[in-house]
Amino acid sequence: MHTNPFLVVANWKMNPLTIREAERLIRNFEAGIEKIGKNDFLKKVELVICPPFPYLGRINKSKFFRLGSQNIHFEPRGAFTGEVSIRMVEDAGAKFTIIGHSERRINFGETDTQVNLKLKAALQSSLCPIICVGESFEERKNGETTQVIAKQIKKALEKVSILSLPRIVVAYEPIWAISTSKNASCEVDNANDIMGIMILIKKIISEIYQKDVASRVRIIYGGSVNPGNVSDLLEINSLSGVLVGGASLSAFDFLPILKKAYEREVK
Ligand code: PGA
Repeated sequence: MHTNPFLVVANWKMNPLTIREAERLIRNFEAGIEKIGKNDFLKKVELVICPPFPYLGRINKSKFFRLGSQNIHFEPRGAFTGEVSIRMVEDAGAKFTIIGHSERRINFGETDTQVNLKLKAALQSSLCPIICVGESFEERKNGETTQVIAKQIKKALEKVSILSLPRIVVAYEPIWAISTSKNASCEVDNANDIMGIMILIKKIISEIYQKDVASRVRIIYGGSVNPGNVSDLLEINSLSGVLVGGASLSAFDFLPILKKAYEREVK
């Protein structure tokens, strides 16, 4: 069994459009969390909110959640127009960072090499990195899921010390399940379902380090997590958390997810 609190990461992407809306959302989350778990919510659920960069430093500190950035640059400073450094997001209050989200890989050409550089840079800082991996629909259809995920993980972890593993979170996010109503557990055969992929990820990492490291790595799932499907996901015993996009933009959708995560942990 996992010993860490269940991790729930809210990836707001390029939403909401104003800081006022962001603050309102946060207030609604906080009011709902008060009702869910009072004082022990924090012991059971680790909530990380990843807002757009301009809101990072403006969202008030809260005892209920920590902040994360949706991206970072691997260089510490310099002539990189449009980029944001690790020190900057740390200074703005971030404790986590998402690295290699598929939207960055697809829309901004982020490569496995850059993901590796970002991971190594994050590990030199105080940030807890969340590395996203996952196959596209085409790759899955062609039976390339294992190969694709193995390549992403091997490259991401190149020259990363085994001692860093407990700090790293791997998010399995099948691209075809992001922002759709589908999620991996509802699809196809057992071998390719989420549990199978989680075992695969642990196996790949154990192979890299030539040691059984299965229990050291936190693996979470992302891709259309919503109040309707989260209960099924929470039944996966070794799942350490979920990464929630669309459903984290409304308290109506997000609070039931937090409530179910909390209930799983107090059982
Ligand atoms: P989604 O996004 O929950 O809207 O599918 C998840 C993600 O892309 O991180």
